[in-house]
Amino acid sequence: MERTFVMVKPDGVQRGLVAKVINSFEQKGCKLVALKMMKIDRELAEKHYGEHKGKPFFTPLVDYIISGPVVAMVLEGKDVITAARNVMGATNPLQAAIGTIRGDYGMDIGRNVVHGSDSPASAQREINLFFLPEEITEWSRTLETWIF
Ligand code: PPS
Repeated sequence: MERTFVMVKPDGVQRGLVAKVINSFEQKGCKLVALKMMKIDRELAEKHYGEHKGKPFFTPLVDYIISGPVVAMVLEGKDVITAARNVMGATNPLQAAIGTIRGDYGMDIGRNVVHGSDSPASAQREINLFFLPEEITEWSRTLETWIF
C-alpha cells in the first residue's frame, strides 16, 4: 500500500474546486487519510519546491503557492502515486487530457489547480513536510477487498 501527497493549489481553492478535486481522487479509488487547509509560508514553499531552485519559474511558483490558502492531503492506495497523477493529468493543462483535473479546469502551467508527488521518494518527503504522523488517520474500508 502506497501513500502520496496532493495539494489543491491557491487557484483551485479560489475557484471553489476543492470538493471537485477531492471527489476526482475518491471516485478513482484513492483513500483519503489526511486533509487540511493551510497557508504555506515562504520557508516551507521553498523546501517543497527545492528541486526547482535556480529555474526561471522558481520565484513566481513560490510567490504563487504562498499567495492564498491551499488544501493539503494524503491519499493511500495501491500504486496511488501513479493513479493520482493520472487523475491530475499532465503538468501543463494545455497538454492534459480532457477528463483529467488539469485538462478540465486549467489553462496555464503556472495555475494548474493541483499538485501531486511524482515518485515514492518525493511522496515521503512531501508528506513529512506537510503532516505530522498523528495527523494521518489509519482506517480501512469495510469489505475493501472487493470494492477496489
Ligand atoms: S520541470 O522543469 O520539468 O522540472 O518542472 P515541471 O515538472 O514542469 O514543473 C514543476 C512545477 O513548477 C510549476 N511551473 C510553473 N509555475 C509557475 N510558472 C511557470 N512558468 C511554471 N512552470 C512550471 C509546475 O506547475 C509544477 O508545479 P506542481 O505544483 O509540481 O504541479
